[in-house]
Amino acid sequence: MIVDKDFRVSEIDERIYGSFIEHLGRAVYGGVYEPDHPEADEQGFRKDVINLVKELNVPIVRYPGGNMVSAYNWEDGIGPKEERPRRLELAWRTIETNEVGTNEFMDWAKLVNSEVMMAVNLGTRGIDAARNFIEYCNHPGGTYYSDLRRKHGYEKPHQIKTWCLGNEMDGPWQVGHKTAEEYGRLALETAKVMRLVDPTIELVACGSSHSGMPTFPQYEATTLEHTYDAIDYISLHQYYGNASNDTANYLAKSMDMEHFIKTIISTCDYIKAKKRSKKTINLSFDEWNVWYHSNQQDRELEPWTIAPPQLEDVYNFEDALLVGSMLMTFLRNSDRVKIACMAQLVNVIAPIMTENGGKAWKQTIFYPYAHVSAFGRGVALAPVVSSPKYDSKDFTDVPYVDSVAVYNEEQEAVTIFAVNRYLEQPIELNADVRSFEDYEILEHIVLENDDLKAVNTATSQKVQPHSYGVSALRNGFVEAKLSKASWNVIRLGKKR
Ligand code: AHR
Repeated sequence: MIVDKDFRVSEIDERIYGSFIEHLGRAVYGGVYEPDHPEADEQGFRKDVINLVKELNVPIVRYPGGNMVSAYNWEDGIGPKEERPRRLELAWRTIETNEVGTNEFMDWAKLVNSEVMMAVNLGTRGIDAARNFIEYCNHPGGTYYSDLRRKHGYEKPHQIKTWCLGNEMDGPWQVGHKTAEEYGRLALETAKVMRLVDPTIELVACGSSHSGMPTFPQYEATTLEHTYDAIDYISLHQYYGNASNDTANYLAKSMDMEHFIKTIISTCDYIKAKKRSKKTINLSFDEWNVWYHSNQQDRELEPWTIAPPQLEDVYNFEDALLVGSMLMTFLRNSDRVKIACMAQLVNVIAPIMTENGGKAWKQTIFYPYAHVSAFGRGVALAPVVSSPKYDSKDFTDVPYVDSVAVYNEEQEAVTIFAVNRYLEQPIELNADVRSFEDYEILEHIVLENDDLKAVNTATSQKVQPHSYGVSALRNGFVEAKLSKASWNVIRLGKKR
């Protein structure tokens, strides 16, 4: 590997370490909010959860959905709690109490130092609801909805900058699903009124729900034909699983993600060329993760209950390796991927789990996310990596070593992230770091486990990182042992 301070991909937008909270399962109720919990603050937010979210250092959180937003009335979640309606929540077939809504969530986001990326309902609703909602959130006062917010105790506007124009509108499962033509027109007109209310906002249009959708990537192309001048980002979503228990193939799935990203970049640039535009549309990968462990369990849940344990994947060690590779994929594409949200944050396909009334704990995937969020700030360096390769069921030429480096100029620090996909043997990583004079190795963090299926629980952290990685810096070269099937974070800093 060559790590050179002058081979740069891009300055990393820290929002690629974003996440997502949907009104789904126990994400909100029993996750971030549990008024009867011993750790609850005066608003009912769990302080133990807040502390874990802060450990992840999440700069932006998408809210309130997800599929849920496509039948959501934002007005249900404002004003006195006792007057808020209970509703049938159609996306996940639960009962939504609306105890938590926009204002409470904005308060919670402040506690975890995050911005909110707010979604409007373009399923059952449209232009009118969106313009009222943004007036409520962002207009200072002197109008019906802005004064309503002030009456609700929020004198200052929330100044929400980033807005999603609906969610997964290409998916037939979506309430109010739309063809690309229908969606493109509606997204454009909604964008127009939202910008009339607040010209400072940024807007994200929906793309494909995943790269396997039959309408991918035409959905993006048509949507962009309509909305190109009115929006800033196009959204991508992708989840992976290992239902066939083929780990070599599973760990290569980040290559599909890379292909997905590259295709959408090309699609954006094709429309840019057609429109003779100077503007570049960037990517918001606002749902990504592993999701498959809980599928069967979810099919057995009773409908119409409050906060059932939906989408509660318990992640194993190999999932953490793939999550590490997915994060590195964002770094390699950080010139165009400016927002990414791990879906989701608490209890629902999440790095943080809670017991109702009990503990909050870290899943295996918490660790690579925390590491890249902590040490992946600065400039992504262009990866020049030569690795032995393998073929798997769906992929050809999969590099055994998946690696990328980040340079933080201000802190005079360089971090090499690496996954060893080889399941049988360690691999020696040899990294040329000669452009970083007078640097030394500060730490080599490793996440490894003999059991690819090992999981964490509320009472045991079988999968957690250690700092005893074996690496040395000799004559400008890092020589590091990457244990078989491992996640590695090799931190270098200027000698002091
Ligand atoms: O994150 C879970 C669900 O996955 C979201 O609600 C939806 O947008 C996607 O299909």
